[in-house]
Amino acid sequence: MTDYGLAPDQIDTTKPHSARMYDYYLNGKDHYEVDAQAAAKVLGVYPTVKLNARVNRGFIHRATRWLAGEAGVRQFLDIGTGIPTEPNLHQVAQGVAPDARVVYTDNDPIVLAYAQALLNGTPEGRTAYVQADVREPRRIINAGELQETLDLSKPVAMSVNALFHFIPEEAKPYEIVRELMDALPSGSYLMLTHSTHDFSAETWVKVIEIYKESGIPFTTRSQSEVAGFFEGLELVEPGVSEPQHWKPDADDRPEDIRSADINMWAGVARKP
Ligand SMILES: C[S@@+](CC[C@H](N)C(=O)[O-])C[C@H]1O[C@@H](n2cnc3c(N)ncnc32)[C@H](O)[C@@H]1O
Repeated sequence: MTDYGLAPDQIDTTKPHSARMYDYYLNGKDHYEVDAQAAAKVLGVYPTVKLNARVNRGFIHRATRWLAGEAGVRQFLDIGTGIPTEPNLHQVAQGVAPDARVVYTDNDPIVLAYAQALLNGTPEGRTAYVQADVREPRRIINAGELQETLDLSKPVAMSVNALFHFIPEEAKPYEIVRELMDALPSGSYLMLTHSTHDFSAETWVKVIEIYKESGIPFTTRSQSEVAGFFEGLELVEPGVSEPQHWKPDADDRPEDIRSADINMWAGVARKP
């Protein structure tokens, strides 16, 4: 049993899961043989997938620091959180603003099983975890844990990183983001990263096939399609860009990273 009373047999170890494959890419330990096999197949056709995952995490850390620092946001809603990976978003946000409040959400029972690691925040701040599917945005917004943790009359930075490529068109991904942002007040932010075929289309045909064989739908989107998620919002400089080019730290060397090795678009935008 885990801290949440989840029995190990509630975790499906017969087929790969995206959270556990991502844990493999980040050299974590919280995945099973079936995940390692599928992730190793991806690595075979896309050798820089681990760098992609690290660059994605780097963007999340810089964007969170910027939101808590320059933008002065004190409330965060992170959907599609993934298996805890240090530093987690609340550690980055509370490193800047110890009173920051963070609500995490994921639909995979493995994330719920390890959620305790997401709940060890500062005494001044607060964190909570909601087990929910992003395809049911109302359930996330109405969840008791969220309502008790966040004040929805004040700005919230909502992050959906490396999540919407798992949401196909028929699940209406743009409407989901709009519904979530509609529930947040003016001055709120959207932070999003998304895989793209723009730089290496042949690689993505192979990667998507491996996910599909594993029963995981995967939809890459072009820069303009990713920009569509930010419609009606004010993009923060440098706009929808490659994650390594989004406000790099002084000692980063984004020019040394090839676009076709990362294959991602990233952005942060403010709700007017
Ligand atoms: C690639 S991981 C990204 C983790 C983290 N956001 C990051 O960027 O480092 C994608 C996460 O989205 C979650 N996920 C996939 N489909 C989901 C859905 N329909 N609702 C909620 N979470 C979902 C997976 O369980 C996984 O933890």
